[in-house]
Amino acid sequence: MSDDPQKKLKICVIHGPNLNLLGHRDKSQYGTLTLDKLNRLIRRTAEACGMDVSIYQFNSEEKIIRTLHRLRKVSDGIIINPAAYTHYSYAIRDAIELLPIPVVEVHLSNIYEREEFRKISVTRDVCVRQIYGKKEESYLEAIRYLQDYLKKA
Ligand code: DQA
Repeated sequence: MSDDPQKKLKICVIHGPNLNLLGHRDKSQYGTLTLDKLNRLIRRTAEACGMDVSIYQFNSEEKIIRTLHRLRKVSDGIIINPAAYTHYSYAIRDAIELLPIPVVEVHLSNIYEREEFRKISVTRDVCVRQIYGKKEESYLEAIRYLQDYLKKA
């Protein structure tokens, strides 16, 4: 984490399970972009906001948790799409709660207008904001939100 206001802010994006198959998943929920294309958009937007971004995708809960632990010392903020873990992973919730930096939860689809089990997010309360239902724009809005949030901090 940096205290120097001149230094570029470092953010990190974590995509959860099955998001590696974007472009092949239900396009009406998740949009048409592949993960590579989405990541290019994320990089371009972060760059335009003057921030450095690292991007990860993990299918396993353990790798997400290990990465959250590691980022506590090196990142200024995190954007996470915990994917299906959103709905039941108290372990990821606890890992987010332990972080001294802001975390924004994002979803491509509108999880509140789908199956009942998707309406529950166990991670939402420990994040500074939840953004959903805007397909790739959910991530881009999260970048801009984090930029404003960190500027005010
Ligand atoms: C998702 C919504 C989750 O319910 C689902 O399991 C995903 C993706 C989204 O981005 O809309 O894998 O997080």
